[in-house]
Order: sequence, then C-alpha cells, then structure tokens
Amino acid sequence: MTNDTAPSPAFARPHLLGIEDLSAAEITSLLDTADGFVEQNRRPDKKSAQLRGRTVINLFFENSTRTRTSFELAAKRLGADTINMSVSSSSIKKGETLIDTAMTLNAMQPDVLVVRHADSGAVKLLSEKVKSAVINAGDGSHEHPTQALLDALTIRRRKGRLHGLTVAICGDVLHSRVARSNIYLLNIMGARVRIVAPPTLVPSEIERLGVEVHHDMRNGLRDADIVMMLRLQNERMNGSYVPSVREYFHFYGLTYEKLSVASPDALIMHPGPMNRGVEIDSEVADDINRSVILEQVELGVAVRMACLDLLMRPRAGAETGADR
Ligand code: CP
Repeated sequence: MTNDTAPSPAFARPHLLGIEDLSAAEITSLLDTADGFVEQNRRPDKKSAQLRGRTVINLFFENSTRTRTSFELAAKRLGADTINMSVSSSSIKKGETLIDTAMTLNAMQPDVLVVRHADSGAVKLLSEKVKSAVINAGDGSHEHPTQALLDALTIRRRKGRLHGLTVAICGDVLHSRVARSNIYLLNIMGARVRIVAPPTLVPSEIERLGVEVHHDMRNGLRDADIVMMLRLQNERMNGSYVPSVREYFHFYGLTYEKLSVASPDALIMHPGPMNRGVEIDSEVADDINRSVILEQVELGVAVRMACLDLLMRPRAGAETGADR
C-alpha cells in the first residue's frame, strides 16, 4: 500500500471512464492506494500536498450529494485547487453545448475534469476533446466507476477479500450505472454476482455479463455474503415499471424477514440516495451491526483521492496532467 508520488506500476491510464476494461491488477492498485488514504482522512489534519498546484473541476450535469462532495474533499485533502461548476447557473442554460463547455474549461488548463452526465457515453465523448484527465462520475445508465471502487473497498476491508464472495445486487438494475460497474468489477475480481429484481427492471441479456438472475428475493439472497440494494430511479423511467411502491416494497424491499436467508454476517450496502420504505426498511438500513452504508460514504473520499492521485502520477512515455 502506498500513497507516495512514485509511479504506479498497475494503473497508468489517461482517464478513468469505466470499470469494464480494467484489469484485476489495475483495480487492486486503485484499492490499495485508496486504503492508504483512509487513515489520512481520520486524522485531525487531513491535508497532504501530493496535488499542490493542480486544478480539479467538478462538472455535474445531474444532481449529486455524495460523489460531488467527496471529489471536492478528495482534491482539497491532496492539496489541489478545486471548483464546482454550477451547471444551473452556467452558459449551458444559454444553449452552449457539452463539447463547447468542455473546450472552454479545457482552455483554462485544468488537470482533471470530474464529469457526471445524464447520457451514456457523454463523458467518454468529452474526454476525447480535452487535454486534461477525465473521471466519469456517472454517465446515464452506463457506468459509475468510482462507486464500484468504493463498494469494493468497503467489502474488501470488511471481508478481507472479494474473490469467492456471493454478492446479491437487488432492485432497479435496468437503470443503474452502479449495478453495471459493480457487475464488471466483481466479475473481474472473482466474486459471484446475483441480480434480484422484477422482470421489468432486469436489462435484456444481462446473463451475458456473467450474472445469475433471480426474481424472488428469498432465492436471490440465500447465503449471500453481500446484499446491495438499489434505488428505483424514477427520473430515468418513461412509464410504469412497478405496479405500486407498496407492492414493490412487499416483494423487493429489504426487511429482516427477507434478510434471514442470507449469510448470518451478510453486509447490507446501498450507494445512496436511499428511499426508505421503498427498497429498504429503515430499521435494516440503520442496523449498526449489518449496514455499512455510511462506511461506503466515508471510503468514497479515499477512493476519489486514489483516482486523482494515480491519474496525476508521472508515467514514463505518457503525458501527465501538467503537460497533456
Ligand atoms: N451514489 C451516488 O452517486 O450518490 P450521489 O448521486 O449523491 O452522488
């Protein structure tokens, strides 16, 4: 584990756009680096100087609490200058396109752009137009790589490994970039992944990603080591995917009764934001012995520090954030 400024042997990419094409070694390098930042974040003085002089711009076209705040904290704790561009008060509201906005910010010489956008593929498109490193903070229903990394770090710190664990991902998988990034990561790292959802909320041909599909919570949660709940993403739904919230909670909301078939030490996870009483019962969400939901949030800062740190490290034969 290291968080010094030596080149990272296993992660040497210009951007972090997704998990799908990462190797196990690259994921391990990101997780090991993040692990090294956890203690720094628990100290009274949380600041270091790895990224002094660097500039990080958060460009969020969709709402966020956790991801945007933790990227801002991560950049500041590493000594970088960071700004949050407010899309609602920007010239995007006057009709400026995504690419013109990106080129405008690019002209100000940032080192990293952290981008969230409602359209799948928009962050990759933007990365092809700018000189800075780009981190995908969530694009449509495609990927949310730093969420999967922080979930993996939480699991690894609690269980000591990812390999061989059974992870049940439950709820609105159809619209979930979190589910997609987690499926990629967990498969790459040798975990078994089950999807548990009503047929209307399962993407077609999801089995091709190497997951088991269940429509019944008791079957899907049986002996699971990790139970990861997902929010119903009403903002991405055109039309009705579930008969009613009440019925959805009855069949798919996580309660102690449904959890009873999982492994006795199964961890309860949720990427947030949570809808209590829809996909998860409040008592289960707040169970300090089983729920690691706030630990996920804490480790999210360390993971984002690791992403910024590794992307900014000098690499032989590659341009860095300073000279891209
Ligand atoms: N999990 C997650 O991405 O949360 P935010 O939308 O609050 O960033």
